[in-house]
Amino acid sequence: MSWMIKPGGSLHGDITVPGDKSVTQRAYIFAAMAKGTSHIIAPLRAEDTDSTLNAVRSLGPVIDDRVQEVSITGDGTQSFTEPGDVINLGNSGTGARLMAGLLAACPFLSVLTGDESLRRRPMARVTEPLRLMGAVIDGRADGTLLPLAIRGGFLKGVNYISPVASAQVKSSVLIAALGAQGKTIFTEPALSRDHTERMLTAMGVHISAQGKSLVVEGGQVPKAATIKVPGDISSAAFFFVAATVMDGSDIVVRNVGINPTRTGILQLLEAMGARISVMHHDGDGEPMADIRVQGNGSLRGMSIPEEWIPAIIDELPLAAVLAAAANGVTELRGASELRVKESDRISTTVQMLQRAGVKVEELSDGFRIHGPAAVTGYAHESHGDHRIAMSSTILSLMARDKSEIRDTGCVATSFPDFVKLMNDLLPGSVTVI
Ligand code: S3P
Repeated sequence: MSWMIKPGGSLHGDITVPGDKSVTQRAYIFAAMAKGTSHIIAPLRAEDTDSTLNAVRSLGPVIDDRVQEVSITGDGTQSFTEPGDVINLGNSGTGARLMAGLLAACPFLSVLTGDESLRRRPMARVTEPLRLMGAVIDGRADGTLLPLAIRGGFLKGVNYISPVASAQVKSSVLIAALGAQGKTIFTEPALSRDHTERMLTAMGVHISAQGKSLVVEGGQVPKAATIKVPGDISSAAFFFVAATVMDGSDIVVRNVGINPTRTGILQLLEAMGARISVMHHDGDGEPMADIRVQGNGSLRGMSIPEEWIPAIIDELPLAAVLAAAANGVTELRGASELRVKESDRISTTVQMLQRAGVKVEELSDGFRIHGPAAVTGYAHESHGDHRIAMSSTILSLMARDKSEIRDTGCVATSFPDFVKLMNDLLPGSVTVI
């Protein structure tokens, strides 16, 4: 599938975006671990989240799937049964790494795999701590690449210092820790997204934070809960940037999750001079807001501080689009984690900008972009990466002439409604060809 992008115009309207991918996946997994029936309201319905739902289904919990509300009835991880087949997580890194933590605590054999992109992504970051806890894990490249065969159970708590600030690693270890004997202490170099800690706490699990460390006692069973999933700020971000760079725009995106570990894109937009107002309202467990964004023709380039990276990690290709519209140089350093996402996002972002005539330098751990650019229309490749396909769309709105985005099927992993919402805000901007 390809999209044709018609450039120009401005965005107008009031929308809501689909549920948060990270929150939905955790809700499915924790509900399956709990005793009783949990209700997940407004989950993201997309390929990645459906992969995780199928993965937990294969362990035995009863699932009532009603699109806008998924109910999961579990009886604790003790009641899980050995899956009858290989568990395929498709494109979902979060699904694979969190499920590895869950399966490490289960006393049977399970095999995890994924699509071509996921089978290239590093798994040592989870298999190393899980092996230290006692799980027996084998797999390609000495258990560092999918498929992984996990024979779990009888885990012991560990004191683990993670070399990467990764919420997937943190969550994987914390999930395994709940099924382990004794105490686990997990330390990360910087605070990554904290949905796991918030949701498990709301489900009655005791987790204490000590500086950059989390401490959890094994043997705790989450209590069933009702979990309301906020709108995904990583999806809303495409429209925030589009409205900012397209002069005369004025949009509102409602019920967006604004957990501070995820709002780096708002921080960056504000620092570069975007016109944004955030109207907070209550969410239980996860804060939410209605966010208004108006166009602004005079953005300023800047160096993105390294400490902002965890909270903007998935929006960095989009930050590059913003940089192309800004006056001066925008530089990103210290972001080599981008190289192990759904694509090598340093290289695919740089390629996207170069094709559109933007002056950019690729760095080993980031990029340097010289704006403002006279963007030209081009045939962009998604490289099978949903966020590159959608970022290329926003870049193409700024072009002089039409662009084509190729291989856009991957957008179904996180945001199947993207084209519809884009056309609601800017009619005729995207045509599926
Ligand atoms: C995620 C954590 C981040 C992020 C990914 C979702 C999560 O990955 O990039 O899209 O749900 O925990 P890392 O944990 O690898 O940083």
